[in-house]
Amino acid sequence: MSEIARRIRYGGDYNPEQWPTTVWDEDVRLMQQAHVTTATIAVFAWAKLEPAPGQYDFGWLDDVFDRLSRAGIRVILATATASPPAWLAHRHPESLPVTIDGVRLAFGSRQQFSPSSAAYRHHALRLVTELAARYADHPALEAWHVGNEYGNHVTRSYDPETAEAFRIWLHNRYGDIDTLNAAWGTAFWSQTYRSFAEVGVPSAAPMIRNPTQVLDFDRFSSDALLELYRAEAEIIRSYAPDTPITTNFMSFFKDVDYWSWTPHVDVVSDDLYPDPADPRSYVLSAATRDLMRSLGAGKSWLLMEQATSAVNWRPPNVPLADGRHRLNSLQAVARGADGVLHFQWRQSAAGAEKFHSAMLPHAGEDTRVHRGVRALGAELRELGDLVGAGVPARVALCFDWDSWRAIEQDGTPATVDYLDTVLRFYEGFLRRGVTVDFLHPEADSTAYSLVVAPAAHVLSDDAVHALASVPARGGTLVVTYLSGVVDENLHVRLGGYLGGEGALRSALGVRVEEFAPVADSTAFDVTGDYAGASDFWQELIRVDDAQVEVVSSFASGFAAGSPAITVKRGVGGAGAAWYVGTRPSTALVDKLVSAWLADSNIPAAFEHAVTGIETVLRGSRRFVANHSEAPVRLSVDNRQIELSGHDCTWIGTREEPIEITSTSAGPTLIPSEGEIQRCEHVGALMIARPGSPDPAE
Ligand code: GLA
Repeated sequence: MSEIARRIRYGGDYNPEQWPTTVWDEDVRLMQQAHVTTATIAVFAWAKLEPAPGQYDFGWLDDVFDRLSRAGIRVILATATASPPAWLAHRHPESLPVTIDGVRLAFGSRQQFSPSSAAYRHHALRLVTELAARYADHPALEAWHVGNEYGNHVTRSYDPETAEAFRIWLHNRYGDIDTLNAAWGTAFWSQTYRSFAEVGVPSAAPMIRNPTQVLDFDRFSSDALLELYRAEAEIIRSYAPDTPITTNFMSFFKDVDYWSWTPHVDVVSDDLYPDPADPRSYVLSAATRDLMRSLGAGKSWLLMEQATSAVNWRPPNVPLADGRHRLNSLQAVARGADGVLHFQWRQSAAGAEKFHSAMLPHAGEDTRVHRGVRALGAELRELGDLVGAGVPARVALCFDWDSWRAIEQDGTPATVDYLDTVLRFYEGFLRRGVTVDFLHPEADSTAYSLVVAPAAHVLSDDAVHALASVPARGGTLVVTYLSGVVDENLHVRLGGYLGGEGALRSALGVRVEEFAPVADSTAFDVTGDYAGASDFWQELIRVDDAQVEVVSSFASGFAAGSPAITVKRGVGGAGAAWYVGTRPSTALVDKLVSAWLADSNIPAAFEHAVTGIETVLRGSRRFVANHSEAPVRLSVDNRQIELSGHDCTWIGTREEPIEITSTSAGPTLIPSEGEIQRCEHVGALMIARPGSPDPAE
C-alpha cells in the first residue's frame, strides 16, 4: 500500500483552466501545506479539451497532471462530459433538452443535453476515448470520475429522440403492446394503445397522467442516464481495467434510482451540502452517509463534494460556523467515507459559482476558512487506519425509489412526503445511537435482526416475501401505514392491502380496510401500551389473527376505537411483526424504537433518546458528535468527554480499539452549566475496552 492509500483522501475539484498558469504553482504549494492528497480535475473542461469538434488540446492537462504528480498529489480524472461546449449546441440544437411543457432549454449554463441525444452521446464518448487512451497509465491517476451529478439539472427530457428511446425501453420491458396496456391499466379513461408507435412520453396533459406511464418514464429516465454512465465507463475500463471508476451521487435524489446504479460503480461517491441554517440538517446528513455505505453493501465510500462554508444557491447562503466544516467531514468519515473532498479547491473569480465557498477563498490563505482547511487536513492524517474499515449495523431500514415516486404522484390518498416518513423512523434510531443500514425491500435481510419498512407503498411479490420472511426467521419486522398498497405496476393489492392476500398480511395478522388521512395537522392520541400523540394518518385496521396484540388504538377521530399499532409474535416469542397504522410523534417513535430494539436484542449506545448528539462506531473507533451549539459533557466508559458546540471527537485507536458491550441504566450525560434542561433525559453511552469489566454488571 502506498503512503497515500493509507490516508483518508482529502482535497477537491481543481479547476486550473479558470486561472493563468502563474496561479498553478501557488495552488500546488498551498495544497501540500493543507495536506491535500487528491485533486479532481477536468470536471467542466470539455471546451478547453476539445475547443473545436475533433480538435483536442491536452497539453495544459498534461501540465496539471505533472505538477500534481510531482507534489505527490493523486488525481481523480473527470471525463468532462457534464457540460458540453457551445459548438455542440450550435451544431446539434436537437441535443438540447426539452421540458415537460415543450420548451427547449438553451446553451449558456451547464448540463444542457438530452440524455437520449445521439449527438451528445457520440461526442461525449469520443472525448472519453481520447482521455482514456492518453491518461489510463498515468502514475498519478487514482480514479475516474464519469460525468458529474447525473440528473442534476436535467433528469428527463421530452424531446422526440427521448420518446423514441422510451418506446424501445418499453418494448424491452413489456415485449408486446397488450402487456403494456395491461400493466398501465389503459382500460381506464380509454387510453388503450394499438402499437408502441402510439405511445409517447408523459408530457404536460389536461389532468392526472397515467400513473404507470409516469413511473415507467421515471424509471426509463434514470436508466437513460445510467446507460450514458455505463457507456463512458466501458470505454475507460477497456483502457484502464484496474483503475476505480465512480460518479458522484446526490444524497437522496428522487430522480435517479441509485440501487440500480451501484453495481456499475467501483466506489460509491456522494456530494452533500448540509444546510447550515437548519439545525436538524445533521439528520439528513447522517442518513445520507448511511445510504452511501448501504448502496455499496457496506464498502467505504467517498465524499466527493461538500462546501467549506457557504454555497451560492440557497436563500440566503449562510456560512458554516467555526467547527461545522470539520463536523460535517468527520460525520462522513465516521459513517464510512474514506475521503473528504470539496467543491472546489480555489474559489472562482468569475462565472455562476464565484460566491460559492472553496478550500482557498477569495481572501486568500490567511483566512478562517483556509486555516480550518489546513487543520482538518492535518487531523485526517490521524485517521488513516480507518481506510476500508466497516460500520456495523443490525437494523435495516427499507428504502425504495419506486415507493418514493409512486406515493408522491398525483391522485394518491394523501400528499405524502416519503423521505420525511423514512427519516422520522431513521431519526428514532439516530437518537439512540443505533446505526442503521438502508436496504432495498427485495434484498436479502438475513444480516439484520430488525427490518423497518416505512411507507413501503410499492411491493413486488419478491419484496412481499422478503419482508414476510423476517419474523419467520426469528427477526423483528416493522411495517408502517401505506405499505404494500400496490404492486410494481401500481395495481392495487386487493382485499386489505399490506401486500394483498398472502405472506406479509398473514405475518402481520392484520388487514387495512380503509384509509382515513386527517384533514388538518391536528394531533390525536393513540391509547394503550404504546400511548402517545400521532397525526396525519388514521385507517381502519382489522385484526385477522388471535395471536395479534393490539398495543394501541385510535382514541378519537374517524378510526376511533380501531387498532392503531399491533404486534404479532411467533411461537415462544420468536420473531415479531409490528404494524404501525399511524404517523407517530417523536415521543411515540422513541417508545416504539425502544420496543423494537428490545425485541431484536440490539443494544443502544444512548439509553434514552437524545437530540443533537450522534454516535457511531467505525472500525476500532467510536465517534461522538455534538451538532448543537451548546457544549455538553458525556461520560463514556467512565471517561468524561467534553464537546463544545459543533464538535466531534473519537475514542479508541487502532492499537487500543473500543468495543460496545451493552446498555445500562443511569443517565451519564452531564449537563454543562445552563444546559440542565436539555440534557437531563440523556442516557448512557456504554463502551468498554477489551478486558475491562462489563459496565452493565
Ligand atoms: C454540485 C456540482 C458542483 C458545484 C456544486 C455547488 O455539487 O457538482 O460542480 O456546482 O454543486 O454547490
